[in-house]
Amino acid sequence: MRRGRFITLEGIEGAGKSTQIAPLAELLRARGLEVLTTREPGGSPLAERLRTLLLDPDHQGMPATTELLLLFAARSDHLERRIRPALEAGRWVLCDRFTDSTYAYQGGGRGIDPNRIAVLEDLVQDSLRPDLTLVFDLPPELGLGRAKSCLGQGDRFESESRRFFAAARAVYLERARANPRRYRVIDATAPLAEVKRAAAAELNAFVDALEFRS
Ligand SMILES: Nc1ncnc2c1ncn2[C@@H]1O[C@H](COP(=O)(O)OP(=O)(O)OP(=O)(O)O)[C@@H](O)[C@H]1O
Ligand SMILES: [Mg+2]
Repeated sequence: MRRGRFITLEGIEGAGKSTQIAPLAELLRARGLEVLTTREPGGSPLAERLRTLLLDPDHQGMPATTELLLLFAARSDHLERRIRPALEAGRWVLCDRFTDSTYAYQGGGRGIDPNRIAVLEDLVQDSLRPDLTLVFDLPPELGLGRAKSCLGQGDRFESESRRFFAAARAVYLERARANPRRYRVIDATAPLAEVKRAAAAELNAFVDALEFRS
């Protein structure tokens, strides 16, 4: 059985990740692939409980290292129990946020040294990295405006400053620039239908390239 591919959706709040994941999964299914859609933090029962703790506004002021370790604890459970088994069974995995979010938020936003994040990434993931990462890119003001109008009370991250999200955005863009084979940056300022078309075009091109090679 051929291993499935691991695709992640990234970007700051309100970029459109959660809106775009279902149509992207449909695109893959229409191409005959089996798909698991999931999200981080969370994605498994234990990791969803850790997500609740991480996002709870009552935990304002959580030390950055505590937050980092909880995120990777959740990721470890999610990976071992859901992502790896799905990939090994030949299913494609579409994940709403993954470790790039940790580099962006805990690295860029909170100022944790990315080399320390890399140590945990290696520990928890071993050599597993996404095969494709779509970065939905937009200025924080626009994303936060969208996120606010669709939710009631914001979570612990949504109450962060504009500076925090500007730093997170910069990290996503730097990572994408450094590794253009894996990352595709999508202009998320465009209207929904246009973003959807751009994301679908990238995903179709990725699947086409694999089919061409095999
Ligand atoms: N291109 C777009 N144009 C206008 N509104 C959009 C666009 N994309 C998404 N939205 C709207 O913006 C809001 C936030 O989108 P969504 O929840 O998909 O963002 P997200 O990236 O998942 O954010 P978060 O990181 O906070 O989960 C939703 O109400 C959604 O309908
Ligand atoms: Mg979302």
